[in-house]
Formats: sequence, C-alpha cells, structure tokens
Amino acid sequence: MNQAPRILLTRRWTEAVERHLAIRYDVTLNEADVPLTADQLRQAMRDYDALCPTVTDCIDASVLDVPGRRVRLIGNFGVGYNHIDVGAARAFGIRVSNTPDVLTDTTAELAVLLLLMATRRAGEGERELRAGRWTGWRPSHLTGTSLAGKVLGLIGFGRIAQATARKAQAAFGMQILYHGRRRADAAIEAQTGAQFIAALDELIANSDVISLHCPGGPETFHLINAARLALMRPTAVLINTARGPVVDEAALVAALAQRRIAAAGLDVYEDEPRVHPGLLQLENAVLLPHLGSATIETRNAMGMRVAANLDAYFSGQPLQDPVA
Ligand code: DGY
Repeated sequence: MNQAPRILLTRRWTEAVERHLAIRYDVTLNEADVPLTADQLRQAMRDYDALCPTVTDCIDASVLDVPGRRVRLIGNFGVGYNHIDVGAARAFGIRVSNTPDVLTDTTAELAVLLLLMATRRAGEGERELRAGRWTGWRPSHLTGTSLAGKVLGLIGFGRIAQATARKAQAAFGMQILYHGRRRADAAIEAQTGAQFIAALDELIANSDVISLHCPGGPETFHLINAARLALMRPTAVLINTARGPVVDEAALVAALAQRRIAAAGLDVYEDEPRVHPGLLQLENAVLLPHLGSATIETRNAMGMRVAANLDAYFSGQPLQDPVA
C-alpha cells in the first residue's frame, strides 16, 4: 500500500481543515504554534513531501537549497508569497501554490474597517472612553471626516483593490482612482467605477484616502517614502492592508507626528510582529495585528484551497493555484 504523503503545517490551522487533511495525509502540526527557526525549516525540507508555510516563515534560498531535500511542493497558506523565494524554488524544481480569491472580500472589508476607523477617529474615541476621560457629548468632540464624494486612491488594482473599490463606492459614494502596473480592462473599470491614473505621484496628490494593495517584495519596498508622504494632502489618510515594507515606517511616524497627513490605518508592519514604537504613541494611527483574512469562514476556505493544491499535486494533476 502507498504511504500517505508527509506534510508539515508550520502553524496551527482551523480545526476543520486540520481534520480534513488528516484523512488523506500524514500530517505534522506545529503544536506550539510559534514560528519555526530557519534550521527547523531546513530540517523540514528533508523530512516532508510538502511544506505548508504562512507569511511568518521566511522560505529563502538557504532553506530551499538543502542536501537530501524531500519537499516537492510548498503549499502556502495565504495569497501573498513574498516570504518565499519563488525564483529559487523554480530553479530547484520545487512547486509553489497560494490561496487567491477566497480572502478577497474579507481583506477588502478590513481595508474599509481601517478607512472608517481612521476617518472617524474610532480608536481615539474608544481609548478615551475606556480611560474614563470622556466628559460627554459636545459639538466639537472628535470630529472626523465624511466619505461621500471623497477620492479613494488605490495603489495596486488586483482582486482585493477592486473589491475595496466596489464597497467604498456602493457604501459611501466615494470616487475611485487607481494606479497599477497596467490599466485594467474596460469591464473592470466600469464595474468598479475606477479611473486609471498612470502617474503614481498624481494619484497620491489627488486622493483623500490612499489604500495600498500592491504585492510585497523588492519592487515595492518603501514605495511610500518621505517624498511620497509629502505629496499627500494634509487631510489625507493612508491605509495599508498589503505588506508592511511597502511603507517607510519611520517616515510615516514623522508625517503623522507632525500632522503632515491626517491619519493612517495599518494592518501590516515592516518587521512583524514588531511595531515601530513611534506608531504606538500616535493617536492618529489605527493599528491592527495583520487581521486581513481573519474570519473563520475565510481561514477555512484558505486551508481548503491549500488542500486542493496538495490533492492536485499528489494525484498528478495541474496545480489549481501555481506560483512556481
Ligand atoms: C495573505 O494571504 O497574503 C495574508 O496577508 C497572510 O499571508
């Protein structure tokens, strides 16, 4: 009888998906649910047929290139895969898959949550109330900004940005601009009501809310730097649900502290789980701990999407979501 393929989940997944995988595979769970070290990841490359990592694992060439490697598939739990050296994986003949589609609306909802929290000063209000500092209703208390007719500028225009555009337009009547590597199809522009802006700096200068939806990696490292923050309107808000290193965090802290921009809503950070200490001091920063896809339905769907890629690979079928 053929042995079930050996797979390692580098973090705990939802119970339903762990149970589902255990029917078909010889599954090892990371019971402690703390990130594995580079040495542990290297050992795993020798011990398993498939490795199933997440954003908290750095799968670089030194992890991929181990003598006696057994892993043939990396089934990433997540849509973003900038923590995996995909070029090196390709060169070593290791397949890589991700989990697109299933987290689109959930992540767009979180971008909208940050947008509302930042423009309506929700974090400030809650902190004030919990600290017993609320003195009662008054017309000038914690006034935020309305969204109707305001310009939402999207940087990157993939699935999550498009879903954010649809929600912001339908729910709040915002006007949508976008900048991406290329212009989207006319049908997508019509569906989302979004207008393409070829020059990134022009989009930044003309937006009331800027929301980042570009992939992480060297091409987008510090795309939002001091010079670009200086182009933003003083009343503007920056939202980041993409990847932390897209924003120069030190420059953002300075811009927020000096009120050169109004606020920021962040779900991702340059060096997670470390958060720049300057951000923690700022009332005009809304800070969430990388919750973009964190609903039970979506985490189940992400796990099942990894399972579909494992099933395809180990039955000799094409991967559903190949990235290498
Ligand atoms: C994603 O799916 O990219 C999330 O940010 C977690 O990696």
